[in-house]
Parts: sequence; structure tokens; C-alpha cells
Amino acid sequence: MLLKTEFNNKVLTMRNRHLLLTSLLILSTQIAFAEAPVKVDSVAPLDDVVFEVGTQTDSLDKALAQADEYEKNREGKIRQSFGLLACLGQALAEHSKADQTEIQGAALRDAALSFKRKSSLEDAQAALKKVKLAQAGKAEGNAAHEHAWNKLVNMHPMMEEINSRNGAILKVLRRPRGKAAEPVHATTWAILGLAMKADTHEVKDEADLPKWHKHTDDFIAASVELAKAIRAKDKTAGRKWFDAANESCDACHEIFQ
Ligand code: HEC
Repeated sequence: MLLKTEFNNKVLTMRNRHLLLTSLLILSTQIAFAEAPVKVDSVAPLDDVVFEVGTQTDSLDKALAQADEYEKNREGKIRQSFGLLACLGQALAEHSKADQTEIQGAALRDAALSFKRKSSLEDAQAALKKVKLAQAGKAEGNAAHEHAWNKLVNMHPMMEEINSRNGAILKVLRRPRGKAAEPVHATTWAILGLAMKADTHEVKDEADLPKWHKHTDDFIAASVELAKAIRAKDKTAGRKWFDAANESCDACHEIFQ
């Protein structure tokens, strides 16, 4: 209930209280998940989001150029990249500094979502082409600003993507040098954490919802602190927050996996 009240307050300030009471009522039921469950700005610096969009488009460029490898990677890393790009697009759409990048967040999200699990190579290439147009600020049409965070990436590819970052983060933590790329894995965790928090379908018993939210909040908070520690080249704090993030994985899996 607390969440709902907070949300309503946010809607009130966001919409400058111009809405009629009736439309407010409709809104509060319809877009309960339309905005990230935690404010995007508080978990993701704009530069990190932009950096990761670049990493994922480059990686898809390579993956989709290898026709013979497509089937092997379609349900794995290709699906993960498009799912992550959808989250990054929505994060940009909601970011207060979005005007500092030419990437069109909402269009990027829709382009990434046009890839489906069963897409042919041609369809995937068409989706990537749209992704790149949005990345370059050249997408046409009016993509909706709002989108449900629980409808951006499926749980399985999300978890695989999160898992794939463990090794990369450990490597960075060995000797952080202050490079722009270094904190981005942790920021990516935080953004995927937003989608994880919103997607509660694995919670079969409603009484367990607070546990889901606690573990996702812990995961998001630890990821944000981890990114900060890496940015500050602080190995000790980094290790502490990396371990805290991993404790939230284990604690959640114990109940829900
Ligand atoms: C809030 C709960 C929660 C947190 C936090 C969480 N997970 Fe998961 N994880 C799940 C659930 C639920 C599943 C099962 C999903 C499914 O079967 O599709 C899962 C599945 C997985 C899988 C198996 C892939 C799959 O979907 O079958 C891996 C790997 C994984 N998680 C890694 C991680 C890592 C690594 C972290 C932390 C860095 C983490 N998870 C954090 C809930 C969580």
C-alpha cells in the first residue's frame, strides 16, 4: 500500500495536478508499472546507459553478421542483448538527462522489442536496423514515452544476462583504473534490477511480495554502490558491494527459484 501511495504522489507532481480526479483514478490503475519502480536517475548515470547501448549494438552487429551462428545464439546472447536494449531504451526515455544524448529512448525500446524469441535472421537484422536508427537519433514516428517495466525482458534472459556480468565485474575489481567502461556492468545490473522488481510473476503467493521487493531493492542498491565504488577505484568497497549483490541473488533464489 505504501508503494501505491508513493506512486500516486508521484503522478500528482508529475502531471502538475492538472488532471481531473476521474482520469487520475483511471491512470493509477492502468499505469501502475508504467514508470520504473525506482527512479531511473537514482540508479543509472546517463553516460553508463549510453555506453551500454553502444556495447549491445556492437555485439548484435557481430552476432547478426554470422548467419551460420544465428540459430545457436538466437535464444541466448542475441535475445539477451535485445531484452537489455529494451530496458536501456526505457531507462533513457525516463531519464531526466535524456536530452543530452541523441539516442531516442522510447524508439530504441520499441525497436528492441520488435525482436521476438522466434525471429528469423532477417527479422532480427530488421530489428537491429531500427535499433541503430534510434541510437543515431533518426527514428521516425511517435514512440510512447511510457511502457510497463515488467514487459521489457523475460525473466530467463534477464537472469542469464545478470549472471554473465559476474566475471566481468570481478575482473574490473582486481584493478579498477577509472575507465568509462568499468562501472557500466554494475549499472547494467541496476537497470535490469528495475525490470526484475517490476516482474513479480514468479511470486506465487501474494504474501511473499514484500520478500521479492526486498531482494530486488537490495540487489539494485548494492549494484548502485558497486558502480560508485568502481568509479572511485575503491577495490575494498567494490568487493563489499559485489558480495552484497550476490547475497541478494542467493537469498532470492532460496525462496523463488
Ligand atoms: C528477486 C529475486 C532474484 C534475484 C535478486 C536474483 N534472481 Fe536469479 N532467479 C530468480 C528466479 C525467480 C529465477 C527462476 C526464473 C526462471 O525459471 O525463469 C532465477 C533464475 C536465475 C538463473 C537461471 C536462469 C533461469 O532463468 O533459469 C540464474 C543463472 C540466475 N538467476 C542468476 C542470478 C544472479 C547471478 C543474481 C544476482 C547477481 C540473481 N540471479 C538475482 C530470482 C532472482
